[in-house]
Amino acid sequence: MSQYLEELEPIAREAGALLMSYFDRHIKIEYKGDVDLVTAADRASEKLIAERLQARWPQHGIVGEEGTRTDTGAEYRWYVDPLDGTTNFAHGYPVFCVSIALARKDDQLEAGVLYDPTRDELFAAERGHGATLNGKPIHVSKTARLAESILGTGFPSHKRHKNPNIHFYQQITLRSHGVRRAGSAALDLANVAAGRYDGFWEFNLNPWDTAAGVLIVQEAGGRVTRFDGTPFRLDSCEVLATNGLIHDEVLDNFREIFAGRGLEPLPSPVEYARKRI
Ligand code: IPD
Ligand code: CA
Ligand code: CA
Repeated sequence: MSQYLEELEPIAREAGALLMSYFDRHIKIEYKGDVDLVTAADRASEKLIAERLQARWPQHGIVGEEGTRTDTGAEYRWYVDPLDGTTNFAHGYPVFCVSIALARKDDQLEAGVLYDPTRDELFAAERGHGATLNGKPIHVSKTARLAESILGTGFPSHKRHKNPNIHFYQQITLRSHGVRRAGSAALDLANVAAGRYDGFWEFNLNPWDTAAGVLIVQEAGGRVTRFDGTPFRLDSCEVLATNGLIHDEVLDNFREIFAGRGLEPLPSPVEYARKRI
């Protein structure tokens, strides 16, 4: 019997419906700092989720991306991303979701839900109970080789682009069936859990981006680590999630890329332009 999901799922659906009511209207884009976008929808969704969680589980703490912080010393904490994929949302590109997860102080993930209101897809997991999509069990893919895999990755706002992911994107693209970049890390993780992606990685994520998706991948039979193969933690920032079968091969490739070995050089656009003329 699930302890949390029955009451958690309607909260995620309600927040998703709220996001859709904003999505169909013209939304004013604001900036958090120089480049990170935020909209009224992010804030309204977080307010709704925080109110519902607090009413039902007043003894738990809440950490929300838009600033909610209640009793951060509590044994159990909710990690809330009220709108994952804000840049997509603000531009009218329909790839975004609501992400809510419960973790213990020692980082053990207890429950997580991700709701994509554009496709009416609700991904859910509770520790030890498996993962579901709209109530039906889901499992990671069975692809056994990187060369036959499709993967996802993400690039945060350009200010935080000062990481080497463009090299990983290029190299893994050349060594697989391709790498997608859809703009919602939480949904990327859900897609690994559902077997739509064989793997996903990203640098510089926050616990509210990853907590629910990581548990859903693990409960769907996948593996999640840092880029050196050590166990994922909520403060890890980097995340590599796969179907488990290609995990060691991806880690080997990452090791090579970090060491600068066997890299296909990036073609020069100047050279390319010169040859065309
Ligand atoms: C972002 C998305 C994006 C990822 C960024 C995140 P937000 O979350 O998950 O895919 O590349 O790193 O910050 O800001 O839309 O909630
Ligand atoms: Ca996010
Ligand atoms: Ca967000």
